[in-house]
Amino acid sequence: MPAFSSENMSSLVEITFRKGLELRDTWATLVAENASSSTKIDVCHFLSRAAFDVIGLAGFDYSFNSINDETNELFLAYRKTFEVFISQTGPIRTLLSIYLPWVNKLFADETVRVVEQSHKVVRRVAGRLIQEKKQKIADGEKYGDPYDGKDLLTLLLKSNAAKDLPLEQRISDEDILNNINTFIFAGSDTSSMSMTWTLLLLARHPRIQDRLRAELLGVSSQFPASLSELSPEQMQSLYVAISALPFLHNVTRESLRLIPPLHSTLRVPTRTDEIPTSHPIPTRSGGDGDKYSFTIPKGTVVHVSFEAFNVDKSIWGDDAWDFKPDRWDTLPNAVYQHPWHFSNMFSFSAGPRACPGLRFSLIEIKIFYYILLTNFVFQEADKITPYNVVLTRPYISGRFRDGAQCPLLVSPFVRPS
Ligand code: HEM
Repeated sequence: MPAFSSENMSSLVEITFRKGLELRDTWATLVAENASSSTKIDVCHFLSRAAFDVIGLAGFDYSFNSINDETNELFLAYRKTFEVFISQTGPIRTLLSIYLPWVNKLFADETVRVVEQSHKVVRRVAGRLIQEKKQKIADGEKYGDPYDGKDLLTLLLKSNAAKDLPLEQRISDEDILNNINTFIFAGSDTSSMSMTWTLLLLARHPRIQDRLRAELLGVSSQFPASLSELSPEQMQSLYVAISALPFLHNVTRESLRLIPPLHSTLRVPTRTDEIPTSHPIPTRSGGDGDKYSFTIPKGTVVHVSFEAFNVDKSIWGDDAWDFKPDRWDTLPNAVYQHPWHFSNMFSFSAGPRACPGLRFSLIEIKIFYYILLTNFVFQEADKITPYNVVLTRPYISGRFRDGAQCPLLVSPFVRPS
């Protein structure tokens, strides 16, 4: 958690601006190469790579450089593991891997072998990074010139080496590597999916897109016309201005509410418990009973749906399934009875295992929206349907086998002179 403090997040602002500008330039080139007024771009593909690059730099000061190059060994190892996770191995195998995980070990199929191969690469390359960082930290201490890397790996290594940390609380290099892997998996496609859904929702609602762009342009007038010329200090002030924009905040929240990238999770109680309910438990015949709690035996696999809470009409009102950013200005009272981790929605979970990357992701996605919407206009191209494949991903309707994608028509936004 300390690694995600606002002080440590300041370097993320710069990283995100640089990556956002790289993405802008890549899309501008694609648009310029096309003779027609708009160009079909799979925004999901590019945002996924951009978010990967951001977490690589912010996570362990490592450049995947994947927006324009997909040959990096570590990138490919992670990507392959991602693809295995999201490939549909069939409902029986999927259920077995959840309820009886040892089945995968005993009867390793092609996908399990791919994951193992990729893990070897991750262990070798990321393991080397850990050793290099440790050396830099040790050299800094030895020569009185402390190494001030702000990436999550450096922060983890430093807090792990702190003199006042009891020996039994120190974690092994293996666990440090596991932490980094968790950041990569938890912190890349979640953000990129949210950005993808927002661009699609804005393409479907052009008036909301125009209104948001107008708000963003209002901020940009106070900064140099060319974003590429921003100094690190100007990036920080620009981010402060962006993060205070009310409509941008509403759009960001509304998209995260309506299509939470992580639709659900699993929890397993370690002891039998009695769970209180707000409504009476229905009887077997379907009527209202008089019991206001139910028993969950130890070991039960409980499916917790973030999505269901977020779009529950009894909480959010009859328009709960619609994209309405303005709803955040006057929320129904029922919403306030559910104090989740972020803005009364369940998208970042709740409680002690809620998402620690909340602040990280808000910085990232708001900067990307700023750069992309002040440079491009987005229109719907194909009919897109969401499917829950680990995360909620976009697919072209009827073309599930082509994989997750979200092509949009992208055209340059020309600023009125
Ligand atoms: C829009 C973006 C994001 C969303 C919607 C999101 C959502 C979530 C949710 C719902 C959980 C709980 C999962 C569960 O209990 O099964 C979670 C956990 C986690 N998230 Fe995020 N996340 C996002 C971005 C990030 C980022 C950018 C990072 C890191 C840089 C991150 C790091 C983590 C970690 C480490 C956990 C595990 C926490 C634990 O188990 O104690 N997340 N996230």
